Amino acid sequence: MTFVGFLIFFATISAVITVAVLIYDVTKNADLDNGSTIMVMFLVIVFLSLACSVVDMFRRKIMVERPVNEILSATERITKGDFSVRLVPLHDYEHYDEFDLIIENLNSMVATLEKNETLSKDFISNVSHELKTPLAVIKNYSEALSLSTLDEQTRQKYLLTLRAASSKLSTLISNILQLNKLENSKLSPEKTTFRLDEAIALVLLRYEEQMDKKNIELWCDMDEVTLLSSADYLDIVWSNLISNAVKFTPDGGKISITLKNENGRAVVKVRDTGEGISQKDGERIFEKFYQVDTSHSGEGNGLGLALVKKVIDVLGGEITVSSTVGKGTEFGITLGDVV
Ligand SMILES: Nc1ncnc2c1ncn2[C@@H]1O[C@H](COP(=O)(O)OP(=O)(O)O)[C@@H](O)[C@H]1O
Ligand SMILES: [Mg+2]
Repeated sequence: MTFVGFLIFFATISAVITVAVLIYDVTKNADLDNGSTIMVMFLVIVFLSLACSVVDMFRRKIMVERPVNEILSATERITKGDFSVRLVPLHDYEHYDEFDLIIENLNSMVATLEKNETLSKDFISNVSHELKTPLAVIKNYSEALSLSTLDEQTRQKYLLTLRAASSKLSTLISNILQLNKLENSKLSPEKTTFRLDEAIALVLLRYEEQMDKKNIELWCDMDEVTLLSSADYLDIVWSNLISNAVKFTPDGGKISITLKNENGRAVVKVRDTGEGISQKDGERIFEKFYQVDTSHSGEGNGLGLALVKKVIDVLGGEITVSSTVGKGTEFGITLGDVV
């Protein structure tokens, strides 16, 4: 815009001065008296200034007002909540001017707003869906429990169902709160020095009973590794990976955990002989609420791996997954804070 604008301005001024000089020359040759020459020159200057202003007005209309109005009406629509607005840049990419850059920035801002709106709508509908089932169980079973005709065995069964539903609710809420904390906290977590192998062993103990129930064989090979990191945050990682391994491995399967100190980096691998994850699903398992197999959905809420990923991102580590459907899965975590 600046160069074209400059050219128009330059051409107009040159034309005006040339015309004024030519007319002055004509009046001089026409033998007019002084008063008439001044009058003619005055009229010429007024006319030329008017012509200049008109040219400049059109230049402004086309080059400034039109894009400004387009941007203005777009921002008004965005303010009203219409995030589908996209503006087309005025020039080719090689000839972008400031307006094109503003338009590009505006488009990318609206795209982000649109994406966030979709994410938050999805999040709310997922949370409501996850809340509904256990709440309906609690409502129906608590009503049934108030019937005096129930025998003791049925009563105990209902109580167990109620306990499971309320524990599902409390897991859901604590997962959401943890995710929210991780997503919104600008501070990095407090780090302490601790033995990673011992921390993982403690988590394994929590799942010992479940593994025994499913006759799962556990194989462990862990180096002694001292880490400067957040033990609390990492507990979320180990407990989710191990609980998934237990949940998705059939009776009589095998889970193995290895921890190696590889050149100052702690590498943890959690392997199972479970149902496995296809490559297509593998790309989505870290999304909030994503569950491959809905027959297991009663036992989880699909937030576990989203939390794991978030923790690893916050701590600056890496997570990988490799899996073969029907054979098993391996999650690998690398952390670089070995002391
Ligand atoms: N070890 C595993 N073996 C097979 N599938 C797994 C494993 N870990 C996770 N998944 C798949 O990834 C999905 C998301 O895991 P997660 O976020 O922990 O949710 P969930 O609450 O279902 O455990 C699970 O529902 C499951 O389909
Ligand atoms: Mg899980």
